[in-house]
Amino acid sequence: MESNTLTITDNRTGRTYTLPIQDGTVRAMDLRQIRISDDDFGLMTYDPAFMNTASCRSSITYIDGDRGILEYRGYPIEVLAEHCTFLEVAYLLLFGELPNESELKEWVSQITHHTMIHETTRKFMEGFRYNAHPMSMLVSTVAALSSVYPEAKNVHDEANRLLQVKRLIAKMPTIAAMSYRHSVGFPYVFPDNDLTYTENFMNMLWRMVEPKYAANPVLARALDILFILHADHEQNCSTNTMRSVGSSEADPYSSVAAAAAALSGPLHGGANEQVLKMLDEIGTKENVPAYIQHVKDGHGKLMGFGHRVYKNHDPRAKIIKWTAEQVFQITGRNPKLDIALELERIALEDEYFVKRKLYPNVDFYSGIIYQAMGFKPELFTVLFAIPRTVGWLAQWQEMHLDAEQKIARPRQIYTGQRKRAFIPMEERQAAAVLKA
Ligand code: CMC
Repeated sequence: MESNTLTITDNRTGRTYTLPIQDGTVRAMDLRQIRISDDDFGLMTYDPAFMNTASCRSSITYIDGDRGILEYRGYPIEVLAEHCTFLEVAYLLLFGELPNESELKEWVSQITHHTMIHETTRKFMEGFRYNAHPMSMLVSTVAALSSVYPEAKNVHDEANRLLQVKRLIAKMPTIAAMSYRHSVGFPYVFPDNDLTYTENFMNMLWRMVEPKYAANPVLARALDILFILHADHEQNCSTNTMRSVGSSEADPYSSVAAAAAALSGPLHGGANEQVLKMLDEIGTKENVPAYIQHVKDGHGKLMGFGHRVYKNHDPRAKIIKWTAEQVFQITGRNPKLDIALELERIALEDEYFVKRKLYPNVDFYSGIIYQAMGFKPELFTVLFAIPRTVGWLAQWQEMHLDAEQKIARPRQIYTGQRKRAFIPMEERQAAAVLKA
């Protein structure tokens, strides 16, 4: 018998099956042959929250969660963060190779020339309530772009796909900045094509009356590094949403809007905003032990801690700590850093966190830098969505080129009742469900 196989005996029937093992996996569909009778549907796997299920083959991002390794297209994240710009990394993620000098120049020029948004989109954004959360505005406005670019639904046309990819990467900072300016009541600032991707974003956020915005180069570089760190993270919740919605052949604007909505949750990208709220709630270093005890007693979670994949240090958190030092030299030290460091120190020694392998994740320190740079906490998740758009699109492209992919459609184990006799209105008992 071939060694790369799995032999299963079904004790219900006594029958034995041999399944091939490929890349450390068995195919769930191979289990379907395991049946107790001819009309049996066949064995399925049950995996709520996809704890142990690979949903695709991907050559974009590699993570070894036990060793704390993250690579994009085979390049360690530390090397990319040190040597590349965000748009260079975006090119790598999307096309598989680092660009040479002329390719990068052309790519940057193409992205730069798609940064404007249609006037009707600007007006659409004006319609949001004055205190709308920037993330809600971003999600809705990206969805609305599918009405501006109806041809985007031709998802099988490669050139058309690429055009939408460029538009999305280029317009995300514009929409993000406008959502911020709207929420604080400032007039929108248009893109400046002389500036780099991150400098231009800072220009659209913060330019007031000066004729030309000059970004602090250290802060612009720090933001670029943070964008690199957030660009992709394989099959996380929002990327899975991107692939799932995209698998129905929905246009990329609808799919990115859905992915961004998934990102907004506090267990995913929304965690960075929650970390700041938590640090505010803790207030002082002295209150840290009591807060940790509160969490251990079952009252909420330590936001910015824990990860489905990393059971060791998140390599991104280490780079963020280093970047924070550079930022604080310009902005001054964020006083919340001391509370965060104390929280990390105590948590990493505490039996509860050690046993569960809970380490600080990317969101633990990112909010502290963002706040020092002048970003409001409501914008933090938007700052995550901008670079992650690249990862979503790279994964979406890969999905469309993968002959094995079909519309995503999991199975269920039905636990409800069957074949009930209909109850006429006058005989029904009150179920009291609406009183809650
Ligand atoms: N604080 C306290 N306890 C925690 C935490 C935490 N942050 N995270 C997990 N645990 C506990 C959890 O209660 C469980 O304990 P027990 O075994 O006694 O029931 C155990 O650790 C395992 O946790 P889990 O919930 O089964 O782990 P998961 O893989 O389903 O969840 C997570 C991963 C990131 C959603 C979770 O760790 C969490 O909610 N963290 C806080 C939110 C956060 O920082 N999210 C950002 C994630 S990184 C960036 C991103 O994805 O956007």
